[in-house]
This record gives sequence, structure tokens and C-alpha cells, in this order.
Amino acid sequence: SINVNDPQLISLVNKLQDVFATVGVQNPIDLPQIVVVGSQSSGKSSVLENIVGRDFLPRGSGIVTRRPLVLQLINRPSPAKLQTNGVDEKELANGNDSQANVDEWGEFLHIPGQKYYDFGKIRDEIVKETEAKAGRNVGISPAPINLRIYSPNVLTLTLVDLPGLTKVPVGDQPRDIERQIREMVLKQIQKPNAIILAVTAANVDLANSDGLKLAREVDPEGQRTIGVLTKIDLMDQGTDVVDILAGRIIPLRLGYVPVVNRGQRDIENKKRIDLALKAEKDFFENHPSYRNKASYCGTPYLARKLNLILMMHIKQTLPDIKTRISNSLQKYQQELEQLGAGDLLGNSANIVLNIITEFSNDYRTVLDGQSQELSSIE
Ligand code: GDP
Ligand code: NA
Ligand code: MG
Repeated sequence: SINVNDPQLISLVNKLQDVFATVGVQNPIDLPQIVVVGSQSSGKSSVLENIVGRDFLPRGSGIVTRRPLVLQLINRPSPAKLQTNGVDEKELANGNDSQANVDEWGEFLHIPGQKYYDFGKIRDEIVKETEAKAGRNVGISPAPINLRIYSPNVLTLTLVDLPGLTKVPVGDQPRDIERQIREMVLKQIQKPNAIILAVTAANVDLANSDGLKLAREVDPEGQRTIGVLTKIDLMDQGTDVVDILAGRIIPLRLGYVPVVNRGQRDIENKKRIDLALKAEKDFFENHPSYRNKASYCGTPYLARKLNLILMMHIKQTLPDIKTRISNSLQKYQQELEQLGAGDLLGNSANIVLNIITEFSNDYRTVLDGQSQELSSIE
């Protein structure tokens, strides 16, 4: 499927989490948050939605995203596989959603316990909750909406959608809206483990990209910024982004990915996400400027790039994980010895350490291959 949910990566993280759970450590890996930044209507919400592969975010012209949305994807094995009460869950699933799937649902922090199987209803609730705090007249609020999506097909990971950078206040917007949104965005992208998707519409001059400018302020070396160029389909005939992709305009270490999201008419006609992704693929494969590099274009390539960055992050974290496990085992050992039961842990401690070592060696091979690929992109 086309999303950040690489099965290999999911299984890697799940195995690590399992090993950690056996020695009583929760959440061993603090995976980076993925944050979108860019001008109003550059296509930030559309990009996030395509990455997740489900329809659930409010999108459209004007200021639609008016509060931060913190989206936690949580990997949860299929209930069918766990052989629990899958029947009950099926009855709850809403038949109106063509993508309804009993294994996948959303839950809002502000409505605890209510499961949304219909992703269209998730969108309605985001709109309603936005109006509740930010009013109906294009106001904004820094109070985030927290949404969790549970699924067997996702990587446990956090994505953040944000209002777009804007300059001139309209409607009920405060006089200093530019500063307020800037602060909202900076708060998220300043975190050293945030991966920044700097979104710029391709029909705007790259030098005027507010997203890139702000990303540079917090990540001057471009260590964690990916440039995303949207609206490639709306560029004037005879123009393209080939020079940008080649790094000849504003080079970025992690490069740029051109994408084609659904346009306003597609949104109004409720064009399905799978058809949109197919259309995006066809666009790049048939366009004279991109067809010879189509595998480096579009949402699947963006997802691939994100996966590689996440794998690199895990690889860098592995030695530290091993140290933490072995420290924690040593501590148990000492406590047991004080109780006069030193041999209780002795053997199992070694077994756990061996598992971790084997595990890191296995994955180091995989990860080394991946890192090769990432540096060849750069
Ligand atoms: P945001 O304000 O940055 O979150 O942008 P949205 O995702 O809400 O999109 C703003 C508008 O731009 C919507 O009408 C989208 O349909 C349109 N849009 C976004 N990306 C593209 C694209 O790649 N191509 C076309 N044609 N329209 C796009
Ligand atoms: Na918009
Ligand atoms: Mg938006």
C-alpha cells in the first residue's frame, strides 16, 4: 500500500518493542514526528492524507486547517488474528464508508472511548472541533486536536498538520496572525527529532517559499527537511521543476519530491484516494519532463524517503538501546543478588542480550542497504 507503513519497518519496530517489553521497558524508540510547513493552501493537508493513505483531513481553498492536528498512528495487530470479538466490531463499522475496515479506526482525545470506523465522520469531527475552539469565521487556535488512528498496517508514528503561514488577517483573525501561526509552526518544527516536510506549490517561485524559509531557521544544514513540490499539474505548459529536483535552484540535502494531489474539483467530486494516487502515477509516467525519472516522483517516493529516514533513525538508536537493556539487566541482577537469588536471572539475562545482539546484526544488514539508497538519493 502507498503510505509510510513499510511492512519491514513495522515488523522491526514491533520486534524491538516486544524485546523491550520482556525486560520491562516501554517505548524504546522515540520515532521522529513528521510535520508539514508551508503557505496557506500549498497542499499540506493533502500531502499528509496521501501519505497515510486514508481520506480524513479537511482540505480546500482558503484557511481550512485552523488548529494543529496531532495525528498518532498506532500499530495494532488485526483483531481477526488475535481471534477476539471481530463480529461485534464489524457491526459497529459504518457501511457508508467504502474504505470501512474493522481493523482500522480513529479516536479523539476529546471524545474518549468513541471509535470512528467511518473516516468521513473523523473529518466531520475535526471540522466541528475546529469551530468549537477557533470559531466559524476563519479564526485560529493553537490548541491542538489530538487524533489517534489504530491499524495493523501503520507504523507507530506521529504526524502533525498545521495551519498555513499567512500574512494578511481576514475575518476574525487576529492582527498578528502572521506571528501567531509562525509560533505555532516553530513550536513543532524546533524539536530536533521533527522531520520537516516543507511544502511549496510548484506554481510559486521557490525563492518565495515560506515553508522552506522557516525550515531553514530551525534546520540550517537541511538535515531533516524534505522539500515537497505540489500542484505540478497546475504549472504552465513548457515549465517544470527539473532544475529544482536536480538541486540547481535551492539545494536541499534530502532533496525534493514532486507530487500531484487532488485538486479542488476532485475534492468536490469526492474523488477516491486510490484513484488519485493512480492518476498521480500516470501523470509522472507520461509527462515529457518526468517520465525518465518517474520513480523519483510522487507520493510513493515521498513515503519511501520517509521510511529510509526512519530506518536511519532506528539504526542510530540501536547501540543506545543495547546499553539501556544491559544496564537494566545489571540492575536486576544486583537486586536479585542482594536478595540472595543471584542465579535466578543469570542465564536469562544472557539470553535476552543475545537476542538483542542477533537482532541488531540482522537488521544492521538491512539498514546498511537502506542507508546506501538514501545517500544515493542525496
Ligand atoms: P493546505 O491549506 O496547505 O493544507 O492545502 P490543502 O491540502 O487544503 O489544499 C488546498 C487546495 O489546493 C485544495 O483545493 C486542494 O484541492 C488544492 N491542491 C493541493 N495540492 C494540489 C495539487 O497537487 N494539484 C492540484 N491541482 N490541486 C492541489
Ligand atoms: Na487550504
Ligand atoms: Mg491544511
